Amino acid sequence: MKQFAAPAIVVATLALFATAHAAAPPALYTQAQATSGRADFETHCSMCHGKNLQGISGPALVGQNFAGPSNNYTVAAIFDELSQQMPAGAPGSLTKAQYTDIMAFILSKNGYPAGKTALTYDGAQSSTVKLVSRVK
Ligand code: HEC
Repeated sequence: MKQFAAPAIVVATLALFATAHAAAPPALYTQAQATSGRADFETHCSMCHGKNLQGISGPALVGQNFAGPSNNYTVAAIFDELSQQMPAGAPGSLTKAQYTDIMAFILSKNGYPAGKTALTYDGAQSSTVKLVSRVK
């Protein structure tokens, strides 16, 4: 069996590589949204999730522990969590624009590029785009 094992590993590794490096992540938000999202995040979220999203009493919102490929997160699933459940203790207390901007900030920290089209609240709520962090 030994002669089959090595090629199988090579194929599996190549497949993983191809998946991880498939398409470039889509541009879902504007830089202005991410910038104002950072300010809102620092005011309303960073005391639990950390200024750099590294996690404190709340979980990390960056990297593979947050959104590894096996988590199968979509933008809508995470947006639902943050717009309906967060901030913990005062869920739903921010405006739609604030939640949308914070989503843009989280995407930016996870390696999704800014683009020309703004993310909207309804768009984030229904987005089936996979959220897989590009940050190791
Ligand atoms: C008082 C502490 C606290 C604050 C403030 C807070 N969170 Fe959380 N957050 C948590 C905890 C604890 C969890 C995990 C348990 C849960 O899901 O309720 C969590 C979970 C999450 C998750 C889901 C993470 C995952 O891997 O599924 C997201 C996204 C999130 N928070 C975003 C935010 C955002 C955005 C804000 C600011 C608007 C915020 N949180 C404010 C404590 C907090």
